[in-house]
Amino acid sequence: MTSRRDFFQGIYHNQAEQFDRLVAREDRQGNLFGALNEIRPLHGLRVVEFGAGTGRVTRLLSVMVDTVYAFDIEPSMIRRAASAMRASGMSNWRLSLGDNGKMPVASGCADLVLEGWSFAHVVGWYPNDWPARTDAMLAEMRRILKPGGVAILIETMGTGRRQPRAPSASLRKLYDYWQEEHGFAYRWIRTDYQFSSPEEADELIRFFFGDELADDCLKRENIIVPECTGIWWRRFA
Ligand SMILES: C[S@@+](CC[C@H](N)C(=O)[O-])C[C@H]1O[C@@H](n2cnc3c(N)ncnc32)[C@H](O)[C@@H]1O
Repeated sequence: MTSRRDFFQGIYHNQAEQFDRLVAREDRQGNLFGALNEIRPLHGLRVVEFGAGTGRVTRLLSVMVDTVYAFDIEPSMIRRAASAMRASGMSNWRLSLGDNGKMPVASGCADLVLEGWSFAHVVGWYPNDWPARTDAMLAEMRRILKPGGVAILIETMGTGRRQPRAPSASLRKLYDYWQEEHGFAYRWIRTDYQFSSPEEADELIRFFFGDELADDCLKRENIIVPECTGIWWRRFA
């Protein structure tokens, strides 16, 4: 049987393009940029991004920040992100390989560090030692930040849901850990998917979220699939 880790790593290794088609359909409301900019005004910042994937957050940030240094552990995701960033015409970005737990970046260099939909894999991939791995990733964020810098974590609070709820007990534990043990504040936004057809919705939701969730949510939804997204943030002294 394919483990959760093999399943997602297989996608990131072999299907970066398909993944990018899915995430390109998310946030039809355009809520993410405004929410990030409210938490930490983005103009002129030096940003380090963890687990950047195919670069959807990198692209969003690049229009406002001074520089975004984005990293991912998977070369095919980085290649895809680099091609999208080149096509965007922006030049204030760098993309490289980097592990969320040990980033190839100098200490104290960033005003803002963030991750989107990457850190939470830890609970499915490492069910026995996710707290220690989480501590290491957050310590890495803190190391990279300048004094007074802000860390932001972005993760799902439910696909096919109009109101936020952690999709599993293990994610609830992780989010509580960020809030209660690491002092992160929390808010949520809607980042609904809008597909071009019911067939595309079926194809892309099924591809990433699996048959159970696809069957459940696509019997209610058509080309718009609601999504709730949690945003956690903390300023480090
Ligand atoms: C769901 S994707 C999100 C990508 C991107 N942030 C986005 O919003 O579309 C998760 C990403 O985390 C990356 N990832 C998983 N574990 C990682 C690690 N330990 N270090 C760096 N990247 C990691 C994966 O390769 C994948 O690109």
